Amino acid sequence: MNKILYIANWKMNKSFNDSESFINKLILNLDTTDNNEVVICPSFISLAKLDSTNRFKESAGISFGAQNVSDQKHGAFTGDISVEMLKDTLSKYCIVGHSERRLLYRESDRQINKKIKLLIEFDIIPILCVGESLEQRKNNESEIIISNQLSACLKDIGEKRLIIAYEPVWAIGTGKSATIQDISKMNSSIKKQMNKLGFIDEQFYILYGGSVNIENVKVLKTAKHINGFLIGGASLEVDKFLELIKR
Ligand code: PGA
Repeated sequence: MNKILYIANWKMNKSFNDSESFINKLILNLDTTDNNEVVICPSFISLAKLDSTNRFKESAGISFGAQNVSDQKHGAFTGDISVEMLKDTLSKYCIVGHSERRLLYRESDRQINKKIKLLIEFDIIPILCVGESLEQRKNNESEIIISNQLSACLKDIGEKRLIIAYEPVWAIGTGKSATIQDISKMNSSIKKQMNKLGFIDEQFYILYGGSVNIENVKVLKTAKHINGFLIGGASLEVDKFLELIKR
């Protein structure tokens, strides 16, 4: 797999106007001859409005994703967005199990598993985030925690294309990324666990996320089994994001 994915997780940032001008500039300046795929995950509102403008559909090298989805198909779930609603937008991907959702909204592996099943049913590629806390890392539990998250979140799912993002919780938004050694070791462990769960190598990509920036991206790219990055803070300014991709 030689394609590198750069996935921008904008979280709760950017109005529609800001999103649109960012994307226009990105389209103008992105080198589409590179074998990269850039995925923008804006707010649900921007996703929907971008779709209605239609212009972005054919932009080579750029795709879109949602940051979350309900674990229910439809019904009385005030404020939630269903997978069918995502199908009305440009969403090719959807992030699930981000540590902010696990921690702040108490999302469980069981709910994440339901979300992944719905996304697969509706042909949207899940980006499953896994990662250990600082305490778990200090206790040398990182590998077992991630292996358990994978087994639970991917229960009864097989033979489908998906993306695993290794995002150590202690590295997210802290400016302190994992080292290449950490990432290589974890990627090998993720690959092993995925194979054990029945996924063949061609069915999944492994990304790293957690304080990826212009300074460290080039080095992090040399980690074992890495197919790209999930980028938060460093994806918010278009010039810096373009520079990060270029490196
Ligand atoms: P960060 O966020 O790049 O700002 O650390 C990554 C993420 O939360 O996905």
